[in-house]
Amino acid sequence: MEIVNGFKNSSIERAVGLLTNGDVVAFPTETVYGLGADALNPYAVAKIFEAKNRPHFDPLIVHVGRKEWIYDYTEDVPQDALKLIDIFWPGPLTLILQKKTLIPDIVTAGLPTVAIRMPAHTVALKLIEAFRKPIAAPSANPFGYMSPTKVIHVARTLKGKIPMILDGGDSVFGIESTIISFQSRGVFIHRHGAISEEELSEYVEITHDIKTDSVYRSPGELPYHYAPMKPLKIVHNADEAITANSSFLAFREPSTKPISRYTKVLSKTGDLKEAAANFFSDLIELDRDDVDIIYAERVPESGIGKAIMERLRKASKKGVK
Ligand code: TXA
Ligand code: MG
Repeated sequence: MEIVNGFKNSSIERAVGLLTNGDVVAFPTETVYGLGADALNPYAVAKIFEAKNRPHFDPLIVHVGRKEWIYDYTEDVPQDALKLIDIFWPGPLTLILQKKTLIPDIVTAGLPTVAIRMPAHTVALKLIEAFRKPIAAPSANPFGYMSPTKVIHVARTLKGKIPMILDGGDSVFGIESTIISFQSRGVFIHRHGAISEEELSEYVEITHDIKTDSVYRSPGELPYHYAPMKPLKIVHNADEAITANSSFLAFREPSTKPISRYTKVLSKTGDLKEAAANFFSDLIELDRDDVDIIYAERVPESGIGKAIMERLRKASKKGVK
């Protein structure tokens, strides 16, 4: 497996060569690293599932290089979707829309809808534009494990399984995109992410109603997603982290020294954006062999804090299905 500088044109050309050949390539996005393949080639997409050990019922996000591409790959785009695309693309907002038949079933796990977004990362956009076709990509981690925000995370967990990683530096947001669908009474949030509910609600109505027969609940909503290997417990502060053989993920600088063996502070000043950017990489660090448990301090559930808590809750429910 090669790690190449994604900002170089020669690297992009080689990555395009691999994609054209039906191979997979890991690439940076503003949220987390993705593992990409030609979204229109079912054999190439199958390699993503294989490398990640991902069950085939879990559909992928299709990444486009221009806003107009949605007309090539999706149908019946609602007005609200156009509005949000205009405001938030390129950026970490994924829309679930009706798909055109051109998108193979393996990408959408047989669903009539496709999840689609235009990433805001120079390297990702260069790659997609040079390839001139959409790239299907989940986060570049083994299924169920935490999303990679640094090249090293991808290299460690997918070594020997993929031919190339484009290095584009650390992910700026550090939390995956927000996934939404369009219901008769507004927008439903399937996965809280880098664009907050508050930001969305400035432009569209948010609904908590979803017709379960009409819209598929994504596997990303399963309780055991995003989990470290070690059990994780959510606590109010360092005082509740009571066993020594533990790691402690603090939201802000703790007022009392934690008893835990390892501590990481997401943001000294309690800044939620900074906390999100450090979230997965700190959690990956704390998921060490010599601890029995990870304690994670609650973060305020406003803005991107909601996405952090959603991921912590899932991590804390590992094993529960
Ligand atoms: O920020 C991100 O979204 C990153 C970067 C690489 O773009 N990607 C990412 O992909 O997080 P992944 O596969 O780890 O998560 C995508 C989620 C899955 O939970 C999947 O179930 C859901 O999107 N999804 C995909 N297509 C869907 C559909 N048609 N309906 C409902 N959920 C869908
Ligand atoms: Mg993922």
